[in-house]
Amino acid sequence: MNKKTILSGIQPSGILTLGNYLGALRNWVTIQHEYDCKFFIADLHSITVRQDPKVLRENTKRAVMQYIACGLDPQINTIFVQSHVHEHAELAWILNCSTYMGELSRMTQFKDKSQKQENVGVGLFDYPVLMAADILLYDSDFVPVGEDQRQHLEITRDLAKRFNSTYGEEIFKIPEAFISETGARIMSLQDPTKKMSKSDPNPNGYISLLDSRDVIIKKFKKAVTDSENIVRYSDEQLGIQNLINIYSSITQKSTSEIEREFEGVGYGKFKVAVGEVVADALEEIQKKFYELNSPEYDSFLTEIYEKGAKTAHGIAKSKLEQVYNAVGFVSKA
Ligand code: TRP
Repeated sequence: MNKKTILSGIQPSGILTLGNYLGALRNWVTIQHEYDCKFFIADLHSITVRQDPKVLRENTKRAVMQYIACGLDPQINTIFVQSHVHEHAELAWILNCSTYMGELSRMTQFKDKSQKQENVGVGLFDYPVLMAADILLYDSDFVPVGEDQRQHLEITRDLAKRFNSTYGEEIFKIPEAFISETGARIMSLQDPTKKMSKSDPNPNGYISLLDSRDVIIKKFKKAVTDSENIVRYSDEQLGIQNLINIYSSITQKSTSEIEREFEGVGYGKFKVAVGEVVADALEEIQKKFYELNSPEYDSFLTEIYEKGAKTAHGIAKSKLEQVYNAVGFVSKA
């Protein structure tokens, strides 16, 4: 039986967070047997905002370890580093040539991120085209994306259709969003209107997958809430809503169960309870991570991402050849 292909990536712009885990990684683990999965570390994307080279290298390796520590099986998934497969950048160039300035200017993530910078790099503007290349190289059927990346998937679909119709061939498969029932959208603990982000300058806004129990509980105690002091799931209480989502996502309890459990209990106790379940959930992951993060596992990890890149490259290479041929490039040999 032919499995459908799923592809997704996470940027190594910091240590992965609770948001990456509950929103992405944990779901990837549940689907890994059912689909042909390609999961990569989007290092090319991460340099669209400035990265310290040493830190980037470290975070990229750590991301591979975190993928595995979270339960992704390297035997059945293709796990690789984006820059190891040069076709990503090459296809992005080709797609650039049929992408309009206007459509990229409308991307909300670009508008947000460019506002925070004085000199806006071309890479930041072009980010969605590189993402389209990632997806289209592998004939991906589904892409698990959060709300913030939906627009980028939309433009990927547009670019694929445009290319197919220009060159008169069914070169690219049109990908679809993969909506999982369990994917939670985790918001910043300091500003519940923003997604939890590993590049947040305020570390109290996010829980890193490597934070210690004490730090986790401290961060939850400091989480921004309102003054209602009633644990209730409401759009008027976004901070509490976020904490309920986190608690629910880990314990699998429904929101109404949680409201009942914490009825008449103030925010203080609720926050500690959330911190405890998060710390419990991350304990196992951290144990595995620290085991992998030792010199004796160096070659084990290198083998995983080298094998991943080899598999990915095999697929990407033939797709890019098809594309080069379609646009009229002379073949090498
Ligand atoms: N842009 C995604 C994010 O920041 C990461 C990413 C890069 C990605 N390329 C991708 C996700 C391709 C899915 C598919 O979350």
